[in-house]
Amino acid sequence: MSLDIARMDVSDMEAVSALWRETEGIGDVPSAGAFSAFLARNGGFCRVAKEDGVVVGALLASFDGMRGYFYRLAVSRAFRRRGIAAGMVAEATRALREAGADRINLHVFDSNGSAKAFWERQGYRTYEGLSMLTRR
Ligand SMILES: CC(C)(COP(=O)(O)OP(=O)(O)OC[C@H]1O[C@@H](n2cnc3c(N)ncnc32)[C@H](O)[C@@H]1OP(=O)(O)O)[C@@H](O)C(=O)NCCC(=O)NCCS
Repeated sequence: MSLDIARMDVSDMEAVSALWRETEGIGDVPSAGAFSAFLARNGGFCRVAKEDGVVVGALLASFDGMRGYFYRLAVSRAFRRRGIAAGMVAEATRALREAGADRINLHVFDSNGSAKAFWERQGYRTYEGLSMLTRR
C-alpha cells in the first residue's frame, strides 16, 4: 500500500467528482467544464491523494494574486484520520506561499464540527465580525 499526494490533473476529474458525490458536506459537484476551467487556472495548487493509484482524497485551491483559497476538501471515509487531508493542505499551502499568497481563506459550515476541528488543527481561526455575502 502506498499513498501518494500529487498535483491534480484533468485525468483525475472523474474520480475526484465521484469522491465528492459520496462525501458529506461537499454539496454540488461542479460540471466537467467548470472543473477543467478551474484546473486550467489553478491546477498547480490543487492536490489529489492516491492509495495504490486510487483517488482517496482531493483538495481544490486557488490564488487570486494576493490571497489563497481552499475548497472542497474531501477524504474517503475508510482513509480518514491518517493525516491525508493534512498532507494535501501542507502541499497546497507550500505552493500557494511560493506563489506569494500572504493569507489563505476558506469557508466551513457552522454545522460541520469535524471540518472545523480539522481546520483549527491546521492553525485556522474564525475571522470574527466578518460575514460571507453572496448572490446569484
Ligand atoms: C475533514 C476531513 C477532510 C479530514 O480528513 P482526514 O484525512 O481524516 O484528516 P487528517 O487525518 O489529516 O486529520 C488531521 C487532524 O485534524 C483533526 N481532525 C480530523 N478529523 C477530525 C474529526 N472528525 N473530529 C475532530 N478532529 C478531527 C485531528 O486533530 C486530526 O489529527 P489526529 O487524527 O492526529 O487527531 C474529512 O473528515 C472529510 O472528508 N470530511 C467530509 C468533507 C468535509 O467536511 N470537508 C471539509 C469541507 S470545509
